[in-house]
Amino acid sequence: MAASLRTPGSDPWLTLLPPDLAPAHTATGVDVIRVAGGARLAGSVRVSGAKNSALKLMAAALLAPGRSVIANVPRITDIAIMAEVLRRLGCEVAFTGDEVAVDVPEAPGAAADYDLVRRLRASICVLGPLLARRGQARVAHPGGDAIGSRGLDMHIRGLEAMGARISNEHGFVLARSDRRLTGAPVWLEFPSVGATENLLTAAALADGVTVIDNAAREPEIVDLCAMLTAMGARVRGAGTSTVEVEGVDRLAPVRHVVVGDRVVAGTWAYGAVMTRGDVTVTGADPRHLAVALDKLVDAGALVETRGPDAFRVRMDERPRAVDVATLPFPGFATDLLPMAIGMAAVSAGSSLITENIFDGRFMFINEMTRLGADVRTDGHHAVVRGREGLSSAPVRATDIRAGAGLVMAGLCADGITEVSHAHHIDRGYPGFVDDLRSLGAVVERGPAPEEPSFGF
Ligand code: EPU
Repeated sequence: MAASLRTPGSDPWLTLLPPDLAPAHTATGVDVIRVAGGARLAGSVRVSGAKNSALKLMAAALLAPGRSVIANVPRITDIAIMAEVLRRLGCEVAFTGDEVAVDVPEAPGAAADYDLVRRLRASICVLGPLLARRGQARVAHPGGDAIGSRGLDMHIRGLEAMGARISNEHGFVLARSDRRLTGAPVWLEFPSVGATENLLTAAALADGVTVIDNAAREPEIVDLCAMLTAMGARVRGAGTSTVEVEGVDRLAPVRHVVVGDRVVAGTWAYGAVMTRGDVTVTGADPRHLAVALDKLVDAGALVETRGPDAFRVRMDERPRAVDVATLPFPGFATDLLPMAIGMAAVSAGSSLITENIFDGRFMFINEMTRLGADVRTDGHHAVVRGREGLSSAPVRATDIRAGAGLVMAGLCADGITEVSHAHHIDRGYPGFVDDLRSLGAVVERGPAPEEPSFGF
């Protein structure tokens, strides 16, 4: 077994943990990204595996005792936190390069640490695997966050249909099943990514057939189904709205390579257009971004597919305003909404941007308006009147994607924009500042400025 993440001085992954979880000598305390306006992003950038797949694949490793290896894992904070969640469930977790090895005991723990789940809402995805393996699970309720409420009703109703008893006590979701879960038909009100994932993992070891109707179709779901199938699960219909899982008695550990990160790839594509640049993105499948890339073509960009995992985006003029509405895959991804608002803010004309997935996704718009963006919101619609350029200001990253969108907007502002709370960006974008620099941006990380003291 390779050295554990916790071995002092062993691994740069340690610096990704929040200061109170990392050993003292690794905490960096760096929290601001300063970006100079005016650069044109140009060159080539490689994206790593998708955060929103890698996290679920690590949780799915719980389904089989033994050592699963997940490769092409992004070097980001959320992965380091998920590793801690799994360790506290009794797994050994070790990182080597871009691979994470998860060694799962015959009987993993059933209670996920409250403090960790609170920090990483994705850790609710251990619910399905723990219930399937242990017949019980105790996972902190992930609550809401800066993009809105994060309901669990569909996760719960689906697991109940399979025979689990679920209650909500003192901030925890408690799930129990006295006997093996039973396959059942489940109909989702909305194609929830997280609910589909928990139901897939629970169904993989259930007795009988589970049919998930109105299932999510995201590439990350297809990736999870591919890993489950390699582990010995019987899954049909991955990537369609009806997924059928025939439960088996036991699954085996595997090695799996994570699908490329379409959201990080899309962020670079929108950055290229906003800065009238020329960027080739490798490591992600352009078909996973079809609608988002079509919008760039409508805005006047040249988009060229360069094989199954590469594409080039070039823009020579000011983008034309385009309307965007987020929807579950294959629709326009909600995680790219801040990039769509950023592009609209510098486009010629007015854009109508509609958010259909998260009720709080517009919370960062106040920060965009500090940069001079002309945005009016009404419910889940935003009207953005494009300006020739933006104006630098100190702004705050409120979540991962908003943070990345603000940095991209800063590239279109005169002067130096300071994006604070940059640790949000570290949760989803590996090597963000280095990648920006390699594409020609003038950008640096620095310590957060001291809060002024008013003496009271
Ligand atoms: N919802 C319910 N009840 C449920 C489940 C979901 O009301 O039982 C609601 C949510 O409150 C939300 C909507 O349905 O308004 C969509 O939720 P979904 O379950 O599809 O999303 P998620 O699993 O919580 C994942 C990603 C998000 C991404 C969304 C949509 C992870 C860890 N997170 O969230 O990614 O935006 O799917 O594609 O996979 C990010 O990476 O920054 C991020 C927020």
